Amino acid sequence: YTAELDASDIEKGTYPHYMLKEIDEQPFVMRNIIKHYQNEDGNLKLDDDIREAMKETDRIYIVACGTSYNAGLVGKQLIENIAKVPVEVHIASEFVYNMPLLSEKPLFIFISQSGETADSRAVLVAIKKLGHKALTITNVPGSTLSREANYTLNLYAGPEIAVASTKAYTAQIAVLAILAVDAARAQGIELDFNPLQELAIVANAIESLTDQKETMERVAQEYLSETRNAFFIGRAVDYFVCLEGSLKLKEISYIQAEGFAGGELKHGTIALIEDGTPVIALSTQEHVDLSIRGNVKEVAARGANTCVISTEVTKDEGDRIVLPEVHEYLTPLVSVVPLQLIAYYAALHRDCDVDKPRNLAKSVTVE
Ligand code: G6P
Repeated sequence: YTAELDASDIEKGTYPHYMLKEIDEQPFVMRNIIKHYQNEDGNLKLDDDIREAMKETDRIYIVACGTSYNAGLVGKQLIENIAKVPVEVHIASEFVYNMPLLSEKPLFIFISQSGETADSRAVLVAIKKLGHKALTITNVPGSTLSREANYTLNLYAGPEIAVASTKAYTAQIAVLAILAVDAARAQGIELDFNPLQELAIVANAIESLTDQKETMERVAQEYLSETRNAFFIGRAVDYFVCLEGSLKLKEISYIQAEGFAGGELKHGTIALIEDGTPVIALSTQEHVDLSIRGNVKEVAARGANTCVISTEVTKDEGDRIVLPEVHEYLTPLVSVVPLQLIAYYAALHRDCDVDKPRNLAKSVTVE
């Protein structure tokens, strides 16, 4: 795989920061994933061993940290909805101390951009001792987690240099969708969802958003240039993307940011809303659109400075960003992009070191 890289992959070129370059590379990464996971006949190309493991298991345990954990939350929804296998998602550093009761035939999926995260490796070592099987989804073939697991799936995202992960997150979700569809087909489940075709649409949709950088920069300046805190709210899968959006903002701009499930606001967090508190709401799902817009009204009535990001289907007058339509399973791949760009511009305008934020490392090899 390394041989496929050309020098431009690890150079910034004309970009001021790796993070911006990596955000822009996401359409290319989607197309690269399509290429690598497609057979000559247009079908999915995945190892028979992985298919068998997915078929045999009665419960999947996804284990990861940071952004990879956030991708795992979306992965749970994809695998449960598409392949109908129950999935639990665990933070690696918690799993070691608080191991859940395991099912009879568990399959572990480790998601790790670097493949070197010590917290995840500690879990891999522990579950291997118990005789369980593991699949690693990583951007670095040959990494520790990929070598020590039974099976590996590659992300084909190219080197990710910026500490804040962007293209690895979207690649992880894309590969999880492919894995889910392959597992569904192996069980004879009929689907009207072709992940490779839909990922091609996603690639174009992401491109149309990375072409709107001025809008994202304006939103960042308007909502985040002065503030000390910010909230991201969403329901259903949008909530998971809000967790990732808030993590991005925290990591690089040092704004105290939290992602919340819209319905949970009233159980505590709404107490923090003051005049001018920025609240960014995601509404990409028709079935929760009314409820999340209700939450937006509640916080606006308490003085919040609200910004709604919607899709062609859920859009309303006054929404700040409208996302192009993609298959409902894949909306996180599109809705995360404005959040990545908003975090980038917020950090830039606050003079933060975008690619190398304080106190953080790209790969954390200590527990
Ligand atoms: C570090 C990085 C995060 C990353 C996390 C998990 O904390 O700063 O960006 O999400 O590790 O890394 P992994 O390589 O396992 O995905």
